[in-house]
Amino acid sequence: MIDLHCHLLPALDDGPATLEDALAMARIAVADGITHSVCTPHIYPGLYPHTAAVIAAALTGFRQELQAHDIPLAVSAGADIYLTPECLSALSDGRYPTLAASRYFLLEPPHHAVPARFLAQIQDALQADFIPLITHPERLDWLDETHYPWFLQAAQAGAWLQVTAGALLGGFGRHAQRWSERFAAEGLIHVLASDAHDPHRRRPELSAARARAAQLLGADEATRLVVDRPAAILAQRPPQAVPAPPGLTRSLPVRRPPGGLRRWLPRWDRPRGGRRAGAADDA
Ligand SMILES: [Fe+2]
Repeated sequence: MIDLHCHLLPALDDGPATLEDALAMARIAVADGITHSVCTPHIYPGLYPHTAAVIAAALTGFRQELQAHDIPLAVSAGADIYLTPECLSALSDGRYPTLAASRYFLLEPPHHAVPARFLAQIQDALQADFIPLITHPERLDWLDETHYPWFLQAAQAGAWLQVTAGALLGGFGRHAQRWSERFAAEGLIHVLASDAHDPHRRRPELSAARARAAQLLGADEATRLVVDRPAAILAQRPPQAVPAPPGLTRSLPVRRPPGGLRRWLPRWDRPRGGRRAGAADDA
């Protein structure tokens, strides 16, 4: 499996603070069946003002440490790029890295506030020949019935959607789990990634979520989420090189099937309810 979103480089953001923790995370990833991780520290102006050059240098050092410690994990550079009006120009001039030097990049929407010009900024990126891989829509506070169609529209326009592996398993609370199941049930997930930050609570693991995705979508599509589409990105292949998620291959707009989704997701129409106390939130 390939993990496209992992805060694995030490002491760059709110990921591992030490090399020891970063190496522990790498060992966890390997034990879970991950062969390649894209190291994606936050780029967040004012808080984590990293550049492609800084991340590339950190990656080189970390790769040497992996080899020195005989940890068989391939690593590439990327970044978890917070959505700002400047991010497209920074991608275009190379200040911000894409995923493994491809045309795909991780795009992190704000967690707590509805972003202005969200779909317009997605369109701007697509027109510049970049493909946004929108991170963890299921965990956004502002995701609701009003805003869910935005992500369908973004995907129909050509963006890819990345759901957090742990969210599908309930590790980020009920809100994130229910919405991740909705994205799965409607066939709108392109990629599952760990978004791991540490070797304890937010670990770099994909296998359990892949098994859950196989229950919801079948084994072949589950494999596409953690192997085929991530591999296509690493190989710098176009989106058409891999089958689209099932919700994007239907000729009609995605609709909730009468009775079908209710049968799959019996909790769906219940009131949203509170988020689990202590559930992970940002970043
Ligand atoms: Fe992240």
